[in-house]
Amino acid sequence: MRNKIYNSKILVTGGAGFIGSYVVEELLKSDPKKVIIIDNLIRGSFENMKSFIDNPLVHFIEGDVRDTALMENYVSGTDYVFHMAALRINSCAANPEEGFEVMLRSTFDLAQLCVKYKVKKVIYSSSASVYGLAQHFPTPETDTPYDNQTFYGGAKLWGEQLFKSYKFMYDLDYVALRYFNVYGARMDTDGKYTEVMIRWLDCIHEGKAPLIYGDGSTTMDFVYVRDVAKANVAALLSNVTDEVFNVGNCEETSLKQLLDVLLKVNDSRLVPEYREENSVNPVSRRLADNTKAKQQLNFEPSISLKEGLKELSEWYFEKKKSINLRV
Ligand SMILES: NC(=O)c1ccc[n+]([C@@H]2O[C@H](COP(=O)([O-])OP(=O)(O)OC[C@H]3O[C@@H](n4cnc5c(N)ncnc54)[C@H](O)[C@@H]3O)[C@@H](O)[C@H]2O)c1
Repeated sequence: MRNKIYNSKILVTGGAGFIGSYVVEELLKSDPKKVIIIDNLIRGSFENMKSFIDNPLVHFIEGDVRDTALMENYVSGTDYVFHMAALRINSCAANPEEGFEVMLRSTFDLAQLCVKYKVKKVIYSSSASVYGLAQHFPTPETDTPYDNQTFYGGAKLWGEQLFKSYKFMYDLDYVALRYFNVYGARMDTDGKYTEVMIRWLDCIHEGKAPLIYGDGSTTMDFVYVRDVAKANVAALLSNVTDEVFNVGNCEETSLKQLLDVLLKVNDSRLVPEYREENSVNPVSRRLADNTKAKQQLNFEPSISLKEGLKELSEWYFEKKKSINLRV
């Protein structure tokens, strides 16, 4: 079977969110028949959807993936589903009951509906969290997930396994993508768990010393959001099914290096201040091995950390300016 976006009906859960909104933009480049977005706006926003909310090909429904009747209404007649609605890792830890309903039960209900309505393929947003602290660096998909200690990572892994079993039992095609540390314009800037780069951008804006908790040696693999959207579209279009892929930038960057690049792209000479780490982070390293995605999906990230941080900085400072103008 050849998968195509042109003239297809595509459902994107969580499509008003950070990554989801870029996936929608990417899909619209290929003239789908309809892109249906279901998002309860707990974190997503109209601001994220600004570039396409008035597009007649887009149908936005402010609704919850836990609402099975609503989901049934929209899964029926849909060709493809991107399942991106989820709670953040910290929200799952703060409220595992809600984590269960959103991450597990809703994913189960969705898989049932996809079988019932013969959806052609599901693209499932998984996470590098499934590895916990990986055994190998770079980390291939074959590393075991046994070290994961988080509810979120467990839920994502269960989602992968659910779709694997539904492929085996009901021949439901799917691809799961394990994103590493996704960043870029539209990332959360004022939530309870704002990412460190946004806090540092605030410091640069205010001329205050950026704080590093611990020695700054923890590493991550920062992948730009537009590259992640491209990986999603590649996963839909390829004939590959029943597979899981890492989606990272394949560069290991310590927090200290991240700050250095952020300061450099903003021509800032601020000097960081180090503070004692106040929480234990069991995952001290992240580095993706994308070989499988390159070979099977023809996906390769194209945006360097420097370019990505420049784009993020410009977007964030512009956003701050427009907020200041409004007050
Ligand atoms: N951002 C990352 O670094 C990262 C890394 C790995 C995996 N992921 C996964 O990628 C996907 C997208 O993440 P994101 O960074 O865009 O996060 P996000 O929070 O911006 O997007 C998730 C969207 O889902 C919506 N949502 C949450 N609960 C819902 C519910 N019950 N019903 C309907 N909508 C609901 C939110 O409003 C939000 O718009 C998620 O599945 C996430 O777990 C993200």
